[in-house]
Amino acid sequence: MIAKPYVAIDGPAGAGKSTVARTLAKKLGFIYIDTGAMYRAVTLMALREGIDLQDQDALSQLARAVSIELLPDQNGGLRVLLNGDDVSEDIRSQQVSQNVSLVAMAPGVRKRLVELQRAMAARGGVVMEGRDIGTVVLPEAPVKIFLTASYQERARRRREELAVKGDIIAQEQMEKEIMIRDQLDSTRAADPLTQAADAVPIDSTSFSVNEVVDLIMARVTAEEERS
Ligand code: DC
Repeated sequence: MIAKPYVAIDGPAGAGKSTVARTLAKKLGFIYIDTGAMYRAVTLMALREGIDLQDQDALSQLARAVSIELLPDQNGGLRVLLNGDDVSEDIRSQQVSQNVSLVAMAPGVRKRLVELQRAMAARGGVVMEGRDIGTVVLPEAPVKIFLTASYQERARRRREELAVKGDIIAQEQMEKEIMIRDQLDSTRAADPLTQAADAVPIDSTSFSVNEVVDLIMARVTAEEERS
């Protein structure tokens, strides 16, 4: 029996998982874990080392050798340390975004990162977001959410995020990128993006972040009262 429950939030790129998970974790006093950031960190390292991204053995070796740490910052966000260096900004580049699905396909990379994620969650009291949290990483999580939104809305949100950093991308191009990423994430052989049978689906297309957070809070509170 764990002291506090795990909350698993899965869903496609741009569905709002990070903002929702971060806000929820802050409200609950739980630890927020962004597993996508870990796949991004391995991708960044592979790009820096000039590793062939089709070479799954080389990627697996790299994943076993790197150190990845997620440290909470003052704003409820995370700093990502790769071999001790802060790469929080670098892992959000377009180059990493366009290559991460390929790296996330390598079974050896997934095995290593899933081990790290389970260790991070071991004491409970975490909100973990990704693609395979409810199905593979924490199948015993008492609260599982599958967060979606229309691909047009997801593209719009991603463009807004990038525009803040000065990256201006056309809506059409972003929709195309999102569709490619969905396709790769949901059809890969290892741990594809799928909704767990016992996950609660939430379509966030026309909900605010706070509305989604409140819906999930109600589930967590009910679960805490039950156990
Ligand atoms: O959530 P994100 O866009 O930062 O995720 C980056 C990539 O990592 C995405 O293409 C899917 C992959 N990923 C994964 O395969 N499994 C996870 N648990 C989290 C992310």
